[in-house]
Amino acid sequence: MQLKNKKILLGVTGGIAAYKAPDLVRKLVAQGASVRVVLTDSALEFVSPLALQAVSGNPVHHALLDPSAEAAMGHIELAKWADILLIAPATANCLARLAHGLADDLLSTLYLATTADVFVAPAMNQQMWAAPATQANLHVLKQRHIQFLGPAAGEQACGDVGAGRMVEPIDIATAIANAYSHPQDQQLLLNKRVLITAGPTREALDPVRYLSNHSSGKMGYAIAAAAVKAGAKVTLVSGPTNLETPPDVHRLTCSSAADMHALVMSHVADCDIFVATAAVADYRAEHESSEKIKKTDDKLTLTLVKNPDILKDVAALEPAPFTVGFAAETQNVEAYATKKLQSKKLDMIAANDVSDADIGFNSDNNALLLLWSDGRESLPRAPKFELANQLIGAVARQYDKKHNAHGTD
Ligand code: C5P
Repeated sequence: MQLKNKKILLGVTGGIAAYKAPDLVRKLVAQGASVRVVLTDSALEFVSPLALQAVSGNPVHHALLDPSAEAAMGHIELAKWADILLIAPATANCLARLAHGLADDLLSTLYLATTADVFVAPAMNQQMWAAPATQANLHVLKQRHIQFLGPAAGEQACGDVGAGRMVEPIDIATAIANAYSHPQDQQLLLNKRVLITAGPTREALDPVRYLSNHSSGKMGYAIAAAAVKAGAKVTLVSGPTNLETPPDVHRLTCSSAADMHALVMSHVADCDIFVATAAVADYRAEHESSEKIKKTDDKLTLTLVKNPDILKDVAALEPAPFTVGFAAETQNVEAYATKKLQSKKLDMIAANDVSDADIGFNSDNNALLLLWSDGRESLPRAPKFELANQLIGAVARQYDKKHNAHGTD
């Protein structure tokens, strides 16, 4: 019953997977949620409102301009009622409408009018999913912190094979239940001050060029959002990313490792927990050219010097906050991560295997192995927002353990 007291507005759009909507409602209700369903015009062709009314125990909403429905529960009231807006299945048309902010039917209007967390389970033909327009809409919606569940890959109703199937109702219900199962309900980090680094750094070579890496910042931003939901006051020191600041996070932006180091050091005294997710460049150019470097010679030699290790410097402070590092490795993940935990004197390290292209750097998914001096926890492959919640749960538990241990010394 992990969704007890959660109010879920389920938007159903017109794809063949809409026939699974009654089952999805049942799975959400089984987790304790109250569910109200909104159907688009085309969804009415695929699923019966009566069936959805029967399984949800609530009237089904459909029309935007229906005086009797508005009198019972108006669209703004409905938007305010919801804790969660879940759209499943979401067609390519639905994603386009959300991305462009249309408000000419009930579901798109509710999306604009609600402050609820939004989850979307896309379902469409694999070519429509791969189409540049759909991918561009997806990109826009992800920037707005919409959480995507799937699509899954496999055989499609039209006979094609590929990515575009709606994730099964049980998996949608489980992913949402997991997202609300821990810290944010229990406020595990209530009033704790958490400082997080995220994203890549850029090390200037000259006025137009720099050295950097492929970090997207997604993991750090997801951890910032999870910490806020767990009751923490969060400061996010971010290198250059395309991500929007999560709600209630205080974001400070920087470019180089030296800038990030300075920003962290000027804010660390106020923090209880420090989480370093940034992919900080290990080296920078010894001399940054003030003029654009010209291609005069066949060979160009750059001399690089080591950047400060922000994480190590924070862990060495007296007193140091509870310090969590990340280790992105391509082999011997656990051995290298354990070495890093010890050599940098960290309280916890989160290791991930970046040799698997489907998790890690630019992906929406990840899998982590958490290690601390006398314990470990494996967090299997999941969307980054879900993993972030689990990581925050583990950090809160180890933080409490460390402080209670000190309290009884
Ligand atoms: O030593 P390595 O770079 O593999 O360690 C990774 C961890 O250290 C990550 O948590 C990263 O954010 C942090 N780090 C840092 N400053 C650096 C290099 C890494 O904070 N200059």
